[in-house]
Amino acid sequence: MIPYGKQSISEEDLVAVAEVLRSDYLTCGPEVEAFEIEFAAMVGAKHAVAVCNATAALHLAMLVAKIGPGDRLVTSPNTFVASANCAAFVGAVPDFCDIDPKTYNICPEALARDWQDDTKAIVAVAYAGQSADMPAIAEIAHTNGAIVIEDGCHGTGGGFTHQGKDYKIGGHPWADMTTFSFHPVKTMTTGEGGILVTDNDQYAQTARLLRSHGITRDHEEFLGLGSEELGLTEHGPWYYEMQHLGFNFRITDLQCALGRSQLKRLPEFIARRRDIVARYNEALAGITWLETPGVSDECNRNEISWHLYTVQIDFDKIGKTRTEVMMELREQGIGTQVLYIPVHLQPWYRQTYGYAYGKCPVAETYYTRALSLPLYPSMSDDEVGQVIASVKGL
Ligand SMILES: Cc1ncc(COP(=O)(O)O)c(C=O)c1O
Repeated sequence: MIPYGKQSISEEDLVAVAEVLRSDYLTCGPEVEAFEIEFAAMVGAKHAVAVCNATAALHLAMLVAKIGPGDRLVTSPNTFVASANCAAFVGAVPDFCDIDPKTYNICPEALARDWQDDTKAIVAVAYAGQSADMPAIAEIAHTNGAIVIEDGCHGTGGGFTHQGKDYKIGGHPWADMTTFSFHPVKTMTTGEGGILVTDNDQYAQTARLLRSHGITRDHEEFLGLGSEELGLTEHGPWYYEMQHLGFNFRITDLQCALGRSQLKRLPEFIARRRDIVARYNEALAGITWLETPGVSDECNRNEISWHLYTVQIDFDKIGKTRTEVMMELREQGIGTQVLYIPVHLQPWYRQTYGYAYGKCPVAETYYTRALSLPLYPSMSDDEVGQVIASVKGL
């Protein structure tokens, strides 16, 4: 079976994890810090805070930016639910802006047109690995007093060109914070895992506190518990303070050792994914009932770190439903996936916020036609050829 996505684990990855198992620290040890430093350097950001998954990273982004009740967050409907759920976690209202029909990313014109005064955060998802129009989104958000979070969960190691200059996701000036996911289907993996990157010292410092219960052990930061009431004159070596209501969003040393090893292999993962995408694009161009993924003028194809290869299929034209197409491909050993069901149409969103069909027409039409084909670095040329032949034969 050729799945739609899959991790790639090498002998070096196994050795890296085994070494941690033999060491003194399984969690909160040196691998976490080393992974953060190396990841921040890779994207060109000042700080990276590694956590147990990207959903936690998005949740932390809300908390450190003090997004809460009375605030609105706008994101793309064409995403995994976590990009929107983070607003609901903190009592803010998740809202959606329609997508661009070419890139399947949040559309700046729609964002400006539908802007509401209580909007305090934008989560701009880099769908399939391609960044949204970050300069345009940041211009709208920042002039209206909202922050910009790039959900780069699909685009680890990727970037884009703007006015002739190259920028990396996580390292460009238009996002206040960026999140990445290391779930096994993503570009690189830590099993489960995520990271929040930012140039903002305060955001990073608070995110570190909140990832571990809001507890500090730094004597210089202590506020004091009123130890004198207990007759104690000093804070001894055992002492810590919980200064905020935090969570256990920690990532382990085992995961970060895998992350460091995968980070070394990231350029090779990205290059192989690009090769496969180029082959698909070439082979599938010109099919009248299929559209290959569009790329914005700003996004140089050679800079995108592709997570997904999603085509648009005119199922009426081939006289088959999407389920029939998926089953037919499955019988030929090919796994496909539909990414994404527009989040505003999920029952919880309809029931909680009254969102309905028609809110984001471009994303809704896109959903009825979308199909993601297999894409992962260990796919052989033969397997890519098999997928192409099967799709052409539909
Ligand atoms: C766009 C996007 N954002 C956020 C997430 C959440 O990531 P995680 O599974 O690491 O919590 C995902 C995961 O699928 C995603 O695709």
